[in-house]
Amino acid sequence: MKLRNKVAIVTGSAQGLGRAVALTLAREGASIVASDINLEKAKAVVREIEVIGQEATAVKADVSNKQDVEGMVKTTISQFGQVDILVNCAGICSLSPILEIEEEEWDRILAVNLKGTFLCSQAVFREMVSRKSGKIVNISSASAKIGGVAVGAHYSASKAGVICFTKSLALAAAPYKINVNCVCPGPIETEMTDAWGDEMNTRFKNMIPWKDYGKPQDVAGAVLFLVSEEARYITGETLDVNGGLVMD
Ligand SMILES: NC(=O)c1ccc[n+]([C@@H]2O[C@H](COP(=O)([O-])OP(=O)(O)OC[C@H]3O[C@@H](n4cnc5c(N)ncnc54)[C@H](O)[C@@H]3O)[C@@H](O)[C@H]2O)c1
Repeated sequence: MKLRNKVAIVTGSAQGLGRAVALTLAREGASIVASDINLEKAKAVVREIEVIGQEATAVKADVSNKQDVEGMVKTTISQFGQVDILVNCAGICSLSPILEIEEEEWDRILAVNLKGTFLCSQAVFREMVSRKSGKIVNISSASAKIGGVAVGAHYSASKAGVICFTKSLALAAAPYKINVNCVCPGPIETEMTDAWGDEMNTRFKNMIPWKDYGKPQDVAGAVLFLVSEEARYITGETLDVNGGLVMD
């Protein structure tokens, strides 16, 4: 077990990539705080983790709300005593074409995907600095690098912001030996891509050299590597998980 005695907060862990990350870290021995706006589904993930034999608790928190985020970290500290790992998985997507993006929609996407990553990282970083140890992994997107081919300009801009924020935080965190990295998935089979419909998904799959979408476990495996001792000297990195869609 690579993460025995570690405590991990995973945002957006009620389903999709967050759920896969939470289960994967738990299987390696971590205690999990499963955070999401959907408390009922987060509780169901907690029950799955308990079946594995690990401790977990569900917390209802909107990552774009500072009070919620501070409450999430407080609950973690009071229940588990520390926070070793943060994985920022919570995110929302929109396919709106640029001329149809309303100001509120732009603000909401940026608030959840970019500000949410900032708020959670800041709150956890404060705790990690005092212990001079910790790992933060942010989930960006291939669209951050190539623009929104199908996803909206607001979504891809928010995810590009996540990459740059990762690098800035990695610089600030390096003196404390805290690793901050980013995973950039291409399309992955989750509820998010299910919502795009068959026609669009078939078209996209043909654009990917691998000719298929990734599985949540592909992303969870990359996250596990980045939070493990094997990645001790890796920080500020962006790891692509995309079947060859973007190579840079
Ligand atoms: N699935 C993909 O193809 C893909 C590709 C690249 C990047 N991503 C990114 O990976 C992350 C997870 O994606 P997914 O496919 O699992 O999505 P998903 O929609 O299946 O799950 C997202 C989870 O985040 C939660 N959430 C939404 N808004 C929230 C908020 N304000 N506060 C807290 N939780 C909130 C939802 O309730 C849900 O449980 C997102 O950041 C997404 O942008 C996904």
